[in-house]
Amino acid sequence: MEHVARDDILQAADFVRAHTTYKPTVGLVLGSGLSLLAQRVSQPDQLLYQDIPHFPHSTVVGHTGRLILGELGGVTVCLMQGRVHYYEGYSLAQVTFPIRVMQALGVNTLIVTNAAGGIRQDLQAGDLMAINDHLNLPGLSGNNPLRGANDDDLGERFPDMSRAYDPQLLQMLHAEAEQHGIPLKEGVYAMVGGPSFETPAEIRFLRLIGADAVGMSTVPEVIVARHAGMRVLGISLISNPTIDSINAEQIQTLHEAVLETAQRAVPVLTILIEGLLQRLGRSQ
Ligand code: HPA
Repeated sequence: MEHVARDDILQAADFVRAHTTYKPTVGLVLGSGLSLLAQRVSQPDQLLYQDIPHFPHSTVVGHTGRLILGELGGVTVCLMQGRVHYYEGYSLAQVTFPIRVMQALGVNTLIVTNAAGGIRQDLQAGDLMAINDHLNLPGLSGNNPLRGANDDDLGERFPDMSRAYDPQLLQMLHAEAEQHGIPLKEGVYAMVGGPSFETPAEIRFLRLIGADAVGMSTVPEVIVARHAGMRVLGISLISNPTIDSINAEQIQTLHEAVLETAQRAVPVLTILIEGLLQRLGRSQ
């Protein structure tokens, strides 16, 4: 049975504490190709995922696994450079283990980023979309990271998801985007299991049920963060149009396109997140 192993979490958190004096309050998860933000952390302490007890580490190219602690935008952050995905074969408990470690370290705000396919007409490659809600497709059929015995010390059995994405953080992000003249869209992120991309019929289905963007991550981390009582902000970088609107040649190179678009949009996303952290720092 899947379960959250509290001893494993505490062991990992102890290991991190033994290697840094930073006490992070904000956690950041950087998705595919978005890791440049990691270089903005001043005086970082860096830990490789593979060295942290029980920490899952990735097998996919473009997902360097490093936990970085330090100051960013005036707040103390615990930043994940790279994440593991369900499609790699990890359980959802393993996928979300780092969020539990952040919880144990005292993180109370989580910022998650990802690359996603744009489903809604106006979402083009290179656009940034603030996530205002999600569709947990694996979860709706029971594949939820909270499945299994509940540890009441970590969170409640039936956590509320009606405001999973913090309205105040969303508002702050829009204000920050406006200040820099950065176009920022907003919408619903649908999680699919992957790793195969969607068929045209699946994209039509996702559009019909209200998805604006689709990706293979983020939702498990958000659910665990909410269970842990954290405030959550999610940002999708639209890396590609989805399959019913692109040609066969583009399909061949979809994974490369995801990484390339991410590289181009990273400076803008970096400005946005650093600005948001400064706002957060001032409001704390
Ligand atoms: N589909 C699913 N996941 C994705 C996509 C997509 O088109 N782009 C980036 N992640």
